[in-house]
Parts: sequence; structure tokens; C-alpha cells
Amino acid sequence: MKRGFFITFEGTDGSGKTTILNKVITQLEEHNINVSRTREPGGQNKVCEDIRGVLLNNKDVDKYAESLLFAASRVQHVNKYIIPKISEGVSVISDRYLDSSIAYQGYGKNIDVKWIQEINSFATNEFKPDFTFFFDIKPNIAQKRIMVNPNREKNRFDLESMEIQELVYKGYKEIIKNNPDKFILINAELSADEVYKQVWDKIKEIFGIIND
Ligand code: TYD
Repeated sequence: MKRGFFITFEGTDGSGKTTILNKVITQLEEHNINVSRTREPGGQNKVCEDIRGVLLNNKDVDKYAESLLFAASRVQHVNKYIIPKISEGVSVISDRYLDSSIAYQGYGKNIDVKWIQEINSFATNEFKPDFTFFFDIKPNIAQKRIMVNPNREKNRFDLESMEIQELVYKGYKEIIKNNPDKFILINAELSADEVYKQVWDKIKEIFGIIND
């Protein structure tokens, strides 16, 4: 059986990736493609969602404990959900994955990036996405979007300082600079329709979809 693809969406808070992901999944299903959506922290597994609760709802989490919890959730996610699904031929699109830990805990919270890589190398056993989309939007523009979106659940990460968001953004840019071939760059400052079109064109290529 042909293995499914593992695709990840990355970006700073408020980059619009979750909205686009929902639309992409609906569209792929309309093309009869076997696909499943998940997210980090959390995802399609109860243990991961329980860890999400600990991470997002508690203000007083030590930044090293936070890094290990993200990694712990990721081990569970990879072994109990992502790998079994793609082995069954289902493609999985995840709203965030390992790059988020490098950008947020490494660059955003000033933890040694090598250590973040090490714990995540253990957590994922080097299991990597086939494709990663980066939704590129400057943090000040993203922040304005978060503030005016009444439907968005705001957690402690959304409320973190602009200073951290700027560091996270610079962190992503650094990760991309070090791995230029790994990312599909999306200009996320455009309108929702235009952002969607950029993503959908690439998704069509990946899945070999000829017409819309
Ligand atoms: P979420 O509500 O899922 O936000 P978003 O829609 O922006 O993905 O919250 C997830 C938050 O957790 C987000 O601020 C990024 C953060 N995060 C990390 O700090 N490290 C990680 O490894 C992951 C996966 C997420």
C-alpha cells in the first residue's frame, strides 16, 4: 500500500494557518483523498490533548518543563497517531510540529537550540515531515488579526509579549535560512483567498490533482 504524506503547517500565532488548513482538508476530501488533520500540542489522541491542557491553561510552567512536555506529547503523537495513519495510506496534515519547539522554546524563550533538537530527535526518532508550509506574516500584523477575531480561543501563548513573538518570528527565519529546501514559503500577509490559493496550488502539486 502507498504510504500517506506527512505535511506540517508552521508560523507565528495569528498567521491564519488553522483557517487555511480547515479549507484544504475539506477540498482534499472533495477530491476523494484520504487525509486527516491533527495539531500540536494535542491532536487526535487523548493523552496529547491532556498534555495540551496542561501546557496552554497553566501560567506557571517552567520553560524547560514546557519543552519536555511538548516533546512528550510529540512522542505519543508520532507513535500512536501519525505513523500508524500514514502507514495505512492516510495523509496527515498537522497544525504545527517540531519546528514550533525550535522557534518558540529555542529562539522565543532562549533555550539552547541544540538541546531542543536533541530532546526532539529522541521524541520523533528523526521522523520528519515530507513537506512543511511556513505562513510568513510579521508579528505586529498577526497580533492585530488575533485581537479582532472574536471566534479565536485565546490561550496564554496568544497573550505572550510581542517581544517573544518577534523572537519566534526571527527564529523561524533562522530555521528557514539553515534549511532552505525544506520549506514552502507562503505570504500570509495577503487576503485569506490569496493565501489559500498559494497553499492549494502547492497541495495540488503534492497530491497530483489536475483540476479544481
Ligand atoms: P494554538 O491555540 O494551537 O495556537 P496556533 O493556532 O497558533 O497554533 O496554541 C499553540 C501554542 O503553542 C502556540 O502559541 C505555539 C505554542 N507551541 C510551542 O510553544 N511549542 C511547540 O512545540 C508547539 C507545537 C506549540
